[in-house]
Amino acid sequence: MTSRRVLSIQSHIVSGYCGNKAATFPLQLLGFDVDVMNTVNFSNHTGYPSWTGEKATGEQLTKLFEGLQASGLVDYTHILTGYIGSSQNLAAVTEIIAKLENHGNPFFVLDPVMGDNGQLYVQPDVIPIYKELMKFAKAITPNQFEAEVLTDKKITDVKSCMEVIDILHDAGVENVVITSVSLSPTDVATHHAFGQNGVTANGSSKKEEEAEDESMYCVCSSRRSMEDISRVFAIGFPTYEGYFTGTGDLFSALLVARLDEAVQQEAGSSQEKPSSLTNGHHAAKKETALSRACIKVVATMRAVVLRTYQAQKGTTGRSLDRTLASSAAVVKRCELQLIQSKRDIEHPDETDVHAIE
Ligand code: ATP
Ligand code: PLP
Ligand code: MG
Ligand code: NA
Ligand code: MG
Repeated sequence: MTSRRVLSIQSHIVSGYCGNKAATFPLQLLGFDVDVMNTVNFSNHTGYPSWTGEKATGEQLTKLFEGLQASGLVDYTHILTGYIGSSQNLAAVTEIIAKLENHGNPFFVLDPVMGDNGQLYVQPDVIPIYKELMKFAKAITPNQFEAEVLTDKKITDVKSCMEVIDILHDAGVENVVITSVSLSPTDVATHHAFGQNGVTANGSSKKEEEAEDESMYCVCSSRRSMEDISRVFAIGFPTYEGYFTGTGDLFSALLVARLDEAVQQEAGSSQEKPSSLTNGHHAAKKETALSRACIKVVATMRAVVLRTYQAQKGTTGRSLDRTLASSAAVVKRCELQLIQSKRDIEHPDETDVHAIE
């Protein structure tokens, strides 16, 4: 296999797993050389009651990049960006991306980290810069709230979700992944965009022990050009009432590796036979490189989240949420069980992870 070199621009925490600390280990396990540029250098993540450390400045990020350039180290095949923090830093990162675009056209995965559950945790002046940056991105991984912020449109059902996705494609992004979106299983099962490929409405045929009833989906869509149609898939996953930090960062890192793998496979088997499987009146549609990648990513995420949830409960048997996670000792117990999940990163169990087109 040819070498894969990713420049990952995200936060660094000394202790725990989010940002680059959540991205580096899985990317290395999956065969990538990972060059790490840190946008912050904190003792621990900001969900703890306290932390110390500094944010980088835009000039510092620019200087680091100039150093890489001067030594001929910018031959990246991939770029991944996560939490950037300020509009000044995001402007510096945009310049770095623009320069790299003229230097071998690396595959850029943009995680527009801005907020969650209806709340921004960055200054709103980053929003227009992210909207601009999308034109360079080959894939984008917003959560539901971030997708809404980027498109000025609320997602209330499958129809509005599709409209949001098309606006993101219109901004120039071929692969759109909304990493978690709350949709009604009936809406997903009956919407014309999704055929019924013998998958139960929540995308999962087995009810995982202790999972919540709330239906969450990862919705992914690929569209090669303006003229093309969007190929949209919804992948359901069981949700846990717990306190998870770094899941979004882990997701985007895994997507870098799994999408690369799926695209290589597709290129290697372009004269593949069309599937002869049928299901009722529908011929089973061919999966896309993106849907194949997302199935693997969601399969790994399920395993990591379940292991983390079990660790959070510990011996108390009580699940933790954000309101309970008020002491540092409790937040520490909520850290992603990332190293413990080595095998699930390398060999995700796809049983029971389905993409509904
Ligand atoms: P974060 O919330 O960490 O900022 P994000 O909002 O960008 O990240 P999410 O969409 O929340 O990312 O999560 C990414 C993935 O993590 C989801 O696709 C899902 O696989 C998993 N995940 C996150 N939270 C939960 C949960 N409560 N239960 C089960 N899986 C979860
Ligand atoms: N970077 C830092 C420094 C953080 O404190 C956090 C969350 O607390 C994150 C990144 C993002 O983590 P998540 O993937 O949960 O959004
Ligand atoms: Mg989230
Ligand atoms: Na995300
Ligand atoms: Mg996120």
